[in-house]
Amino acid sequence: REGLQTTLIGQSIIYRESLDSTNTLAQQMANQGAPEGTVVIADEQTSGRGRRGRQWFSPPHSGIWMSLILRPELPLAHAAQITLVAAVALCQALSRATGVKAGIKWPNDILFNGKKCCGILTEMHAEFDQIHHLVVGIGINVNIPQADFPDELQSIATSLQAIRGEKLARAEVVRTVLEEFEPLYRRYVNNGGFGSLRDAWKANNITLGNRIVAHTARGDIEGKALDIDEFGVLLMEKDNGEQEKIYSADITVFV
Ligand code: BTN
Repeated sequence: REGLQTTLIGQSIIYRESLDSTNTLAQQMANQGAPEGTVVIADEQTSGRGRRGRQWFSPPHSGIWMSLILRPELPLAHAAQITLVAAVALCQALSRATGVKAGIKWPNDILFNGKKCCGILTEMHAEFDQIHHLVVGIGINVNIPQADFPDELQSIATSLQAIRGEKLARAEVVRTVLEEFEPLYRRYVNNGGFGSLRDAWKANNITLGNRIVAHTARGDIEGKALDIDEFGVLLMEKDNGEQEKIYSADITVFV
């Protein structure tokens, strides 16, 4: 917590050498009343979780595996937008702390040269249609030599060390992420959603204007990514000229 310039996020930091998943402990703590801004960090995760039931490679001494507990007083409909907020914070933090100019692939993957260096997994608990708490899980591949990624990740994952060609101080990166996140989070809460951060998201995105394939539950949709709206929904133009809103999907971007 040394030198951390925040007044909310990270006022309480729970550190463990090894956890199954920081999101799991953060959920438990949130259910037991842990205050907003509590951050759970582990040096290693034994079953780190990714989106869509995937695993998240979380070896010891080499990454930032952390979860933020948030309690925004917002309708449930705004909950998913917190991942877009976190994505902006991550891009800004990587740029400031490491000089790495990574970009956001909608909705919230952080890529460098087409390979993922950070991932975000938000889990939520709602009461009726209000948010009770959010757990925003952030994984940053910091000091992982490229050769240490498993074979199946070689073509899709990278680390800050691989990008920069040197090891980086994880504490410094954590501090910068929390510092960049706090003001963006306050805007998200005070303005009732992601809308006012849309320009900041756009400034860091590598999706809009490009050809994409959206892999949706209803099948693949091909076309061009046009815009995102104030709810973070992706607008695309299909090859037949029709426009389509994408609420939830994994996408492939052709740059
Ligand atoms: C993704 O699939 O892109 C999301 C990956 C999220 C990984 C982070 S690491 C810290 C937190 N705890 C988890 O189990 N997952 C998230």
